[in-house]
Amino acid sequence: MALDNQLVTIKQASEWATDFFKKNITPSNISYLIQYGRVKKIGDNGETLINKSELIKYYSSFYGQREISWKDSLGNDLNWHLSFDSIKEAETTKHVHRLHPYKGKFIPHLVQYFIDDHIDEFKKKIYFKNGDIILDPFCGSGTALVQANESGLHAIGIDISEFNSLISNAKIQDYNFSDLNKEISIITEKLQKYVYSSNVYKFEKDLLESLYQFNNKYFPAPEFRRKVYKGEINEAKYSKLKEEQFLPIFDNLIKKHAVSVKSKTSGNGFLGTWCLDDIRKEIKYVYNMVEEIKNKKTKEIIMIILSRFVLAGQQLTLI
Ligand SMILES: C[S@@+](CC[C@H](N)C(=O)[O-])C[C@H]1O[C@@H](n2cnc3c(N)ncnc32)[C@H](O)[C@@H]1O
Repeated sequence: MALDNQLVTIKQASEWATDFFKKNITPSNISYLIQYGRVKKIGDNGETLINKSELIKYYSSFYGQREISWKDSLGNDLNWHLSFDSIKEAETTKHVHRLHPYKGKFIPHLVQYFIDDHIDEFKKKIYFKNGDIILDPFCGSGTALVQANESGLHAIGIDISEFNSLISNAKIQDYNFSDLNKEISIITEKLQKYVYSSNVYKFEKDLLESLYQFNNKYFPAPEFRRKVYKGEINEAKYSKLKEEQFLPIFDNLIKKHAVSVKSKTSGNGFLGTWCLDDIRKEIKYVYNMVEEIKNKKTKEIIMIILSRFVLAGQQLTLI
């Protein structure tokens, strides 16, 4: 049997891993890995055994490395399981949690851990019964409220931020989908007309066409990549040269379409800093349409969708 295929007890595994990785890896760290299925438990009667090769595989993996380094800085009693480190972004932003990229939100799995019926690793039973009420006094974007609802619990959320309350409500309310659909179709149709008639649209169309021709001529695929790979072209120098060559074409298109590429109102809040005047006009155009929506809930959810698009994430009253 190869040395690293040896079966070891939890205590032996901890001593061996501490020595091998030059980090303090305690028996409870090993137990935790077994409990959360990171390494397989072998043998049910008598002493628990694990395979050394599995330990090496885990601690050498990306997640294993992260776990070691975080425990190094924060201490060994860190419950790594609650980092939900290995869960993909698509899962942590499942269903309504993707509605708005609110940066400070809980991972929904973390909330579920505390509300769903289970025994935690300290053998403490954590649960709420169906119909119980959860209060989140700092509900932010409403993760706890959504997860509580999903688990059959009532939930009350409070937040000092009006915008965050809007996101939370948007995630848990019922909607009249046909009204929502109707309003979105009206906005989309009007916006399309607005955009198609704008200089920016014509400018972007021309720009894409010019770029397409330019790239085909000077960066043909796959020949260009091949030449770079063989060292026949210095990519950095060549690209800089071509950038300078394209600049007059770009400037001419700007003149032709009378497009302003610098915001005249920069510095005026998020939108002033990040969006060109023409883009701000588009946002304002949609915002005005949303303001006119009669159904309050429809209006709120479309406002959230709009804010998600402009990425302002804060008050749209800035525009
Ligand atoms: C980190 S966020 C909570 C995020 C939330 N768990 C989620 O999943 O979206 C903290 C929240 O506390 C709110 N907050 C801060 N001070 C508050 C106060 N005094 N009263 C109510 N809410 C407050 C903030 O507006 C913010 O939305």
